[in-house]
Amino acid sequence: MTESLHSSSLNMSAASQLLKQHLQQRQMRGKTHVALRPGTMDRLTGVVRAPAVRAAPEPEPSRILSATPSPAAAPVARILRETPPPPETKKTELLEVAGAMIEEKLAALRAMAETWEPALSMSSLRKTMVFAVGSPLASLMFVGEAPGAEEEKLGEPFVGPAGQKLTAIIKAMGLERRKVYISNICKFRPAMDNQGSSNRKPTAEEMRACVPFVLTEIDLIKPLVIVALGATAAEGLGIPGTVGGLRGKFHSTSGIPTMVTYHPSYLLREEQTGDGIRAKRAVWEDMLKVMEKLGLPISEKQRGFFKAK
Ligand code: URA
Repeated sequence: MTESLHSSSLNMSAASQLLKQHLQQRQMRGKTHVALRPGTMDRLTGVVRAPAVRAAPEPEPSRILSATPSPAAAPVARILRETPPPPETKKTELLEVAGAMIEEKLAALRAMAETWEPALSMSSLRKTMVFAVGSPLASLMFVGEAPGAEEEKLGEPFVGPAGQKLTAIIKAMGLERRKVYISNICKFRPAMDNQGSSNRKPTAEEMRACVPFVLTEIDLIKPLVIVALGATAAEGLGIPGTVGGLRGKFHSTSGIPTMVTYHPSYLLREEQTGDGIRAKRAVWEDMLKVMEKLGLPISEKQRGFFKAK
C-alpha cells in the first residue's frame, strides 16, 4: 500500500464526514442542494497530490477502499440517475458532489494500479499501466481485454483502431464517449517476442493479477449496465463461454446486468474477411438491448441499422 493512498483514504473519510455535516446543516436551514466548485473536494480533504511511493506487500484494492467508511456517493449517484428529480431538486449539482467523491476514489485506485506488484512482477506483462477513461457517473461501462500499442502510447484504453470502432458504436447509440466509462480487465499490455505493434490477449494468470481493479471500479461507479467486449473480458468478469453462446442476453457482474458482445477487433477482422455485416448486426442487436435496459430513446433509424433486408 502506498503512503499517498493511505493519507488519501483517511482524508477521504474525514471529508465525507465534513460534507455530511455540512449538508445536514444546510438541509435544516431548508436548503436542499449544494454546488461543489472545482477544487473544493481537494480543499475539504487536504489532499496533496504526491507521486505514489512504492512499498510491498500491497493488500487487495477492494479491501483498501472498503476499509474506509463509504461516502455512499455511488448509491446516491445511482438513485439520481434512475429517478426523475422533483422540480426543485438541483440534480446536476448533487451529481457533481457524488461524481467528485467517486473520482477521488478512482484516482487513489489508479495510483495503486501504477505500482501493483502482482502485475509488475510478471515478466509477461509490460510495465506501463493503462487504467480507464470516462465519467465516474456513467450509467454504461464497457470492459475490454488489455491495452494495445496505441493505448500504451497514449495512456488511454481503446484509442487505436478497435477504439475507433468502439467510439463509433457509442455514437451510434446516441451517447458520448466521455459520458460512458471504458476499462480493461488487464491494466498492462501483454508482452510478446519481437512485439512491434503486435498485441495478444492476456492469459488467465495475467487477468487474475488485475481483475480486482476492474471489480473495484464497478463497485465505485455502479453502472446500470456493463458491456463485456469479447470472451476474454467476459471470462475476466466471471462469465465463461464463447461470445456466440453468451451474447444476446444479460448475465450478471456483482448484480449488474452484463451484456457480452463481440470485441471491436473481431468486427475489424470480419470486415476484412467478408462477413462484417453479420458481425456488426449481432453487436448492434446487443446494443439495442443495452439501450432498452438503460431506458434510452431508440429511433426508427437506429432500429433499422444493419437490419436484414
Ligand atoms: N483492446 C482492448 O481490449 N482494450 C483496449 O484498450 C484496446 C484494444
